[in-house]
Amino acid sequence: MSTSAEASSAGQCPVHHGYEPFDLKDPFPVYAVLREEDPVMYDERIDHWVVTRYDDIKAVFDDWETFSSENAQAPVRPHSAEAKRIMVEGGFTAYSGLSARVPPEHTRIRSVVAKAFTPRRYKALEPTIRQNVIDLTKRMMAGGDSGDLLTGVAYQLPTITILTLIGADLGMIDDYKRWSESRAAMTWGNLTDEEQIPHAHNLVEYWTECQRLVAEAHETNPDSLVGDLIRAQAEGDEITDHEIASVCYSLLFAGHETTTTLITNTFRMLLSYPEQWQAVLANPKAIPGAVDEVLRYSGSIVAWRRRALADAEVGGVAIPKGANLLLVMGSANRDPSKFDDPEVFDITRGNAREHLSFGFGIHYCLGNMLAKLQTRIAVEEVSALVPSLELVDGDAIEFAPNLSFRVPLSLPVRWSEEKSHA
Ligand code: HEM
Repeated sequence: MSTSAEASSAGQCPVHHGYEPFDLKDPFPVYAVLREEDPVMYDERIDHWVVTRYDDIKAVFDDWETFSSENAQAPVRPHSAEAKRIMVEGGFTAYSGLSARVPPEHTRIRSVVAKAFTPRRYKALEPTIRQNVIDLTKRMMAGGDSGDLLTGVAYQLPTITILTLIGADLGMIDDYKRWSESRAAMTWGNLTDEEQIPHAHNLVEYWTECQRLVAEAHETNPDSLVGDLIRAQAEGDEITDHEIASVCYSLLFAGHETTTTLITNTFRMLLSYPEQWQAVLANPKAIPGAVDEVLRYSGSIVAWRRRALADAEVGGVAIPKGANLLLVMGSANRDPSKFDDPEVFDITRGNAREHLSFGFGIHYCLGNMLAKLQTRIAVEEVSALVPSLELVDGDAIEFAPNLSFRVPLSLPVRWSEEKSHA
């Protein structure tokens, strides 16, 4: 197999088969070419080996001793001197809560956080989530017979949920959204030095608030996830205040951005295939399967990173010690060796749950159940309230440029008022 690295070393112009790392509008045709022709391709523009086959990606995720997640939160584009100055002077010392930590530290912190991250807490949230969907949908519908389901429902719902779970201030939803956009752009984006400056200020504000939350929890002992972590610490679990603040810094981003996208994509996909929307209306029990199929077909995160700690081999290609790997789950999820007719969106697919959109192995997404719970409830309630929902010009929806987060920027919909039940 000829890779770009070989082409480079042979002095030829490197080829990437049309792969554009930050262009996520419709990367799937190029993923298919890569899987077929160059499944482990070195891309010097981002200094990563781009891995696109299901079995290879799963094997790398599984082998955490060889492939560490230490680079998972590293900026793809180095921070500018000015951005660094702003962050240092602002006291920014945040580190990944879990995803870029490695054992034994990762194992220790995950065991403490997992204890606080219980299904009991999600269950307690379920009635509020349901009521929030109903309220947000009715508010959107009050505006007429068309609207944007992303800004109307998907934007706020998971943000309210995660802020409530953690015990953060619900009056600060827009702040958390602004900070999260900055976090996604500063880590996985392709910003110029100038563009980084406002985002650097946002990250300082974000981290300051996470530290304040922890300090406040020591005073008030709240019935929230931060409160649980503070109590675990008091009872002898090994976790520092800085680590708790870092967990907040992670969850207050990971806990809503990706779910906003999942909810948006679920409606986008179901409404793109009206017969599948009708199937869900006729049988709400089909919704969990539909959500899994959306995660497979149009996941919120299409690529995640690892670093080789030793000389290794992936899919028969030699990977040198220290190399970065970009595991393209968005491609794995459409690998025909794993999924029959992978380019077909089918909510009755038997093995959709075997997608890799939540990763795999020791870092498997801690919030996967919460993300799916909220999306299921959103579809249950919105489909009951607005069965006449239709997508308006779905092909025109744009996606933010990013290496990993495939974020739709709008979801224009319309409905016929006489048929809606709001
Ligand atoms: C559609 C929604 C979501 C997607 C697609 C998603 C995806 C991911 C992925 C790809 C990883 C890295 C897995 C790996 O390295 O093997 C991850 C880790 C993580 N996710 Fe999620 N996530 C979602 C929702 C959430 C939510 C709602 C929360 C919290 C409430 C959350 C919390 C976490 C945490 C804490 C980790 C780090 C786990 C560790 O390193 O041990 N995620 N997620």
